[in-house]
Amino acid sequence: MSSHPNTLAGLSVPATIPADAMRLPMTMPRLAEKHRLGEKLVMVTAYDFPSARAAEAAAVDLVLVGDSGAMTVLGHDSTVAVTVEELLVLAKAVRRGLSNPFMVGDLPYGSYEISDEQAVATAFRFVKEAGCDAVKLEGCGPMSVARARAIVQAGIPVMGHVGLTPQTATALGGYRAQAKDAGAALKLVEGAVALEEAGCFSVVLEAIPSIVAEATVERLHVPTIGIGAGPSTAGQVLVFHDLLGIREGRGGKFVQRYADLQEEMNAGVAAYASDVRTKVYPQAEHEYAMEPAEADALRAALAQLPPA
Ligand code: KIV
Repeated sequence: MSSHPNTLAGLSVPATIPADAMRLPMTMPRLAEKHRLGEKLVMVTAYDFPSARAAEAAAVDLVLVGDSGAMTVLGHDSTVAVTVEELLVLAKAVRRGLSNPFMVGDLPYGSYEISDEQAVATAFRFVKEAGCDAVKLEGCGPMSVARARAIVQAGIPVMGHVGLTPQTATALGGYRAQAKDAGAALKLVEGAVALEEAGCFSVVLEAIPSIVAEATVERLHVPTIGIGAGPSTAGQVLVFHDLLGIREGRGGKFVQRYADLQEEMNAGVAAYASDVRTKVYPQAEHEYAMEPAEADALRAALAQLPPA
């Protein structure tokens, strides 16, 4: 609970209102307004009900059901393998856990590249079936820009994603920083501008030098969300499992870890296994009891059964 002044004149409002009650669902106009006011935007990924609840409780602005779920929760070694059906299952679970943040669904590899029609059809599924507020797609070449434009024209907000685009990481030379030479940097800036012109409401900048991010931010009117792009972007995004340490290994150079939950989970499950093996668990407090009369009746009935 947090205290808010009673500003609703004429209405009987308790002096102390749950923080949630004062929050409004995030919308595109509210995102634009926050950006205009220079307030940093917070985005985090989520893939299920508990991660969505954590994002909701932290009052983040945007939640991305990222195709990184292919790696973080499905155990693939890249984002390429995840299917639309799989990501929709994750997105529906996230939707059930979210009320206020703006929810963005990632279009999986192979679900939007073939044609504008394919891209629009997939985007509709994320909105209709999973309740996403917007979709995200990777890249800023002519194909990605065309797909973004088609989806926006169909009425669905689109977030762009430039720099390190994991779906095509192999073509980019692996998971490494992008736009490190002037030519590639210029191409990235132009590509991000093209995404904005196509109607994207925001663009993710991933793993690029801060100077390239600054140049991009300066040329865009829509908010940029950075991940490994330095401090100049309008907001930041981190992968839930990276920031909470639910993984083996550290992750990208840009990851700031705020907890070590994998270690805590390992220790918790190991303690449970040890308690079962040493008969420390369960204790009396974990048992269900039966009324004595019912227990007597049961014993009597069992005595009538043929021996085991
Ligand atoms: O899938 C994902 O998690 C992403 C973020 C890294 C932006 O695309």
